[in-house]
Amino acid sequence: MGATTGTQVVVRGLRPRDLEAVIALDARITGRRRDEYFRKKLDQAMKETGIQVSLAAEVDGGFAGFLLSRVFYGEFGEMEAAAVLDTLGVHPSFRGKGVGRALLAQLRTNLLGLGIRMLHTEVSWDAQDLVGFFRVEGFRPAPRICLDLDLEAHRERGAEREAEEGEV
Ligand SMILES: CC(C)(COP(=O)(O)OP(=O)(O)OC[C@H]1O[C@@H](n2cnc3c(N)ncnc32)[C@H](O)[C@@H]1OP(=O)(O)O)[C@@H](O)C(=O)NCCC(=O)NCCS
Repeated sequence: MGATTGTQVVVRGLRPRDLEAVIALDARITGRRRDEYFRKKLDQAMKETGIQVSLAAEVDGGFAGFLLSRVFYGEFGEMEAAAVLDTLGVHPSFRGKGVGRALLAQLRTNLLGLGIRMLHTEVSWDAQDLVGFFRVEGFRPAPRICLDLDLEAHRERGAEREAEEGEV
């Protein structure tokens, strides 16, 4: 049941036949189709055995949202198994009805059932709706620093430095 709206939300494991619904919903949210990305992700998710960690939400039989997550061992310098939430999306028509919360609640239950204690996710700084939602749902900034290296810019800077040194 949605937290405050009384909407009946059914959460179930994601299935291969959800692929098009997932791609279409993601495209509606992000403005671009990511067919290959989701084909691979769903394929990966379907091969996992045991309790599902990629989920779909339905409201009145309609596809209302989904999340893709995976379990890993030994990343982030951790010894214990942990999980990463890769993608979460709720259809704009079904937002504010507890769909996102229901998806996360089921994921937490399934992960705890697998003995997993930590769920990681990364959010774009621009995705403030997700940042706000995750904050309300109890996520907090991780004690890690994310670093990027722009390889092309780095190479160009190196070439410039070499040229300057050559001039001296
Ligand atoms: C963020 C998102 C998942 C929220 O889903 P939702 O089903 O509307 O959220 P819920 O109705 O379950 O809300 C649960 C709680 O989070 C809060 N919440 C939801 N969206 C929020 C936001 N943008 N900022 C702050 N809090 C938010 C709700 O108020 C509620 O808390 P409350 O009960 O204390 O009021 C949804 O808006 C979404 O899919 N956004 C786009 C995500 C995206 O870009 N995904 C990447 C591509 S798929």
